[in-house]
Amino acid sequence: MNKELIKTIRARFKTKFNLEPMMIFSPGRINIIGEHTDYNDGFVFPAAVDKGIVAAIQKSESDVSIACASDKNEIIEFSLKNLKPMAQGSWQNYILGVVSEIQNRSKKIGNFNIVFGGDIPGGAGMSSSAALENSVVFGLNEVFNLGLSKHDMILISQKAEHNYVGVKCGIMDQYASMFGIENNALLLDCRTVKSKPFQIDFKDHELILINTNVKHSLSDSAYNDRRSVCESISELLKVKALRDATEYDLETVKDQVTPENYQKALYVIQENDRAVKASKAMGAGDLITLGKLIYGSHEGLQNQYKVSCDELDFLVAQAKLNGRVLGARMMGGGFGGCTINLVAKNESENFKIQAAKAYKAKFNKACSIYDVKLSNGTHIIK
Ligand code: GLA
Repeated sequence: MNKELIKTIRARFKTKFNLEPMMIFSPGRINIIGEHTDYNDGFVFPAAVDKGIVAAIQKSESDVSIACASDKNEIIEFSLKNLKPMAQGSWQNYILGVVSEIQNRSKKIGNFNIVFGGDIPGGAGMSSSAALENSVVFGLNEVFNLGLSKHDMILISQKAEHNYVGVKCGIMDQYASMFGIENNALLLDCRTVKSKPFQIDFKDHELILINTNVKHSLSDSAYNDRRSVCESISELLKVKALRDATEYDLETVKDQVTPENYQKALYVIQENDRAVKASKAMGAGDLITLGKLIYGSHEGLQNQYKVSCDELDFLVAQAKLNGRVLGARMMGGGFGGCTINLVAKNESENFKIQAAKAYKAKFNKACSIYDVKLSNGTHIIK
């Protein structure tokens, strides 16, 4: 965890409110495989990381609540009554959305102050938004003794994202951020919302993230569009979600959907299958198979589901040039953010240098490279 960040956030809170806050850490996540399968009731394979959001929170006697985004140096004062979403894209919606969804469940909270900051850049595809939502709901649950379970909390975070942020996300990000286990990835069944932990030790290989440092606009509407395509094809197939369909089933409605939408549904069915196969490969320590599945996932995201972008495709193509990178793919919703790479440890320095150099030469901007440490989910910092 980022000790400097914790120190800064605590100090800011104390200076501003002259009170000792409760400190919360809420992690971002990676996802090994299973992309855009969560809102299809399918399988995903995420893990919480040691980067995320640090929040300082405490009750307030005042008749307004105050939230302060430390990194941006921005503050909002709001009343708990008559909450409404603010302009699309504003950080305030993550906070207001959570407060509103808590109140929708008839839970009573009073005014509060919160200061937060983070060490994953927004748009990295590492779910800084779910981390923020979880930190708010977790903090409010603690300071107002709301008696919410972690399960209740992630549903509140998800609803905040749907109704205030405007992204009809699945449950993967909020789940991974809340329930993460140190050194483990979680094979999550998004229908039952239960997971099986897998201890991650890739021995002489490791995971590396490369952030394209781009986030193309329209990604939110493209996300929601994909979701509704999946839902309409499920309806056509008379199944609850695409998780219940096979490639054979899909074939039977091929002439009733556009070729583009057919490919999207096919991608989801295949990706769900890849996620399950990946967990088996991981259980058997078969990194070669795991790597192939990861490359397969990217191909589907790029060519069938069409949520990638030039920068991500370029980084994956670079990875493919290096025989010691077993697998690489874009991670998260798409249209920017990070690639996740499974690389031989004794090749990783070289790979990082090569990838950074090639990226700079091609796009005339820098990528950022992160090592990955799998961590525990949302918790109080003592
Ligand atoms: C975003 C969403 C998740 C999931 C991924 C794609 O991160 O928040 O629910 O759908 O995209 O796998």
